[in-house]
Amino acid sequence: MFERSAKHQSTVPNHVAIIMDGNGRWAAKRMLPRVFGHREGVKVFKRIVRQCADLQVRILTVYAFSTENQGRPPDEVSFLMDLMEKTFRTEIDELCREGVRVCLLGDRQGFSKRVKELWESAEEQTRGGNRLTLNVAFNYGGRREIVDAARRLARRVHNGELDADCLSEELFANNLYTSNLADPDLVIRTGGEFRMSNFLLWQAAYAEWYFTDVLWPDFSDEHLLEAFAEYERRERRFGRISEDRG
Ligand code: IPE
Ligand code: IPE
Ligand code: MG
Repeated sequence: MFERSAKHQSTVPNHVAIIMDGNGRWAAKRMLPRVFGHREGVKVFKRIVRQCADLQVRILTVYAFSTENQGRPPDEVSFLMDLMEKTFRTEIDELCREGVRVCLLGDRQGFSKRVKELWESAEEQTRGGNRLTLNVAFNYGGRREIVDAARRLARRVHNGELDADCLSEELFANNLYTSNLADPDLVIRTGGEFRMSNFLLWQAAYAEWYFTDVLWPDFSDEHLLEAFAEYERRERRFGRISEDRG
């Protein structure tokens, strides 16, 4: 992080993360049940994955279901589980052909054996994809991820495999679900809220944030380009002073 100089961005972000919010309100505006918004949201998700790959984004992380979303009515939770499963069962071959590597970020313990196997085989099948890495944050919580990493490292210290004084930021980051992936450069949140909602708490420490009122099912290719244009105008200083004043 610190080798990078503070300057205006001239390229598309290397790692884009998206909080895909606003599905329920999109449906409510049309007097439809919330699940219609989720279904529409999947169509947008598929399009944005292709657009990111075409624009040469290298990593795309999407927030699809949070650990807190488990608190929604059981019908909605199981609908979202089924939708995720169906989407990846039908998309995986094409994603593989397109050179997309798929990874699941999240707590898998709550998943059925069938869903766990689906993810393992999707990750295995797409392992060679080198055009775009697609991280799907499902049953994901930033705090849970940090606690999981702490637990894993504490166990290694306890077993005498690791000296506590050797625990660095880098080693800690390598024990997160994202392990050795680069941090997000740009985090986009649709749906008009200005909050993190427990997303990538560690990794987004120096990300640029972009908030839009557009509801996720209305998010178009042009909206993504607008977010990238805004990103290009930002000056990332990483705590330093501006090069213009330096
Ligand atoms: C985002 O849309 C999708 C998930 C959280 C699963 P919401 O379902 O949160 O939609 P709103 O925010 O209620 O409109
Ligand atoms: C964040 O949206 C999670 C996802 C988009 C998957 P929420 O709708 O759950 O966030 P809050 O509850 O408004 O903070
Ligand atoms: Mg929401």
